Amino acid sequence: MVDNIASFFRELEPADFYLLSGIEQGMRFSEWVQREEIPKYAELTAEEVDYRIDRCMRHELIERKTIQYEGYQLTFEGYDALALRTFAERDTFAGIGAPLGVGKESDVYEVQSFRPMALKYHREGYTNFREVQREREYTADRDHVSWLYTARQAAEREFETLEGLYPDVSVPRPVDQNRHAIVMEKLTGAELSHAKLESAQVVGVLDLILREAAAAFEAGYVHADLSEYNIFVDDDGITIFDWPQAVGTDHENARELLARDVENVYDYFCRKYPNETPEAVDLDALAADLVRDEFDSISAYTE
Ligand SMILES: Nc1ncnc2c1ncn2[C@@H]1O[C@H](COP(=O)(O)OP(=O)(O)O)[C@@H](O)[C@H]1O
Ligand SMILES: [Mg+2]
Repeated sequence: MVDNIASFFRELEPADFYLLSGIEQGMRFSEWVQREEIPKYAELTAEEVDYRIDRCMRHELIERKTIQYEGYQLTFEGYDALALRTFAERDTFAGIGAPLGVGKESDVYEVQSFRPMALKYHREGYTNFREVQREREYTADRDHVSWLYTARQAAEREFETLEGLYPDVSVPRPVDQNRHAIVMEKLTGAELSHAKLESAQVVGVLDLILREAAAAFEAGYVHADLSEYNIFVDDDGITIFDWPQAVGTDHENARELLARDVENVYDYFCRKYPNETPEAVDLDALAADLVRDEFDSISAYTE
């Protein structure tokens, strides 16, 4: 995948990227871009297109279908390569390193700049899109919404949210965004789900998380997918990441989503640290105080 891309990235020639971005443009209008239309989008001659298609097929940056008509689309690796090239042109980072995490909806890699950073490729829409596509293989694609678009929107949304939150809320510092990718500060520490908190730390860490949720609300956002998997813990405190699905506090369900976030985190602490986590907490009162920015400690809400 991207490891791959990093290793042969230097072998790609500028005209290979013309082909890739030509297909990218064509995919705004149809899932599979007709071979005859590619020269126009890519600004290459038909012969040049043939040559570049072979190269890009070999590197699995594009794929072909031959049913109905001969068409091409970018693979995620092809889309990754386009974003990577843009970051390289902007000198955002110098090289790609080890995977930091592979989620259902993303691939995250360490990248090297003057300090290590994290590159997150959004994958939203890809799996779903594949299913839908199989069903309508033989139908016209008039209502076509490409997975490129869905993934790019998620990345834009996450980046904007990070910009809205940083530095008032403890989130990764946003660095750059292109297409379906964002670059941000690399977090240290471990996911809360992997951390083993000392007894004496448990309530303190839970309070820190809830205070950040309050700070985010104050800044205008509800995370809406808060869990032990989207929180990092280190010696300096906690950081909340993975924000593409965040909603504004003006969203009609904002308060319910906040209440659900609070409940998720509290339930996790009850399961993992049953002896240290306060019991019988009035979560409604707690969430109401979070919204008013009057929350201090969970200890104040035991019934
Ligand atoms: N800024 C970061 N620094 C270090 N690791 C990260 C960073 N962002 C994400 N990760 C790792 O990648 C994984 C997936 O990222 P996440 O943003 O949660 O995407 P997903 O939507 O796929 O859950 C995380 O669980 C985490 O381990
Ligand atoms: Mg996550």
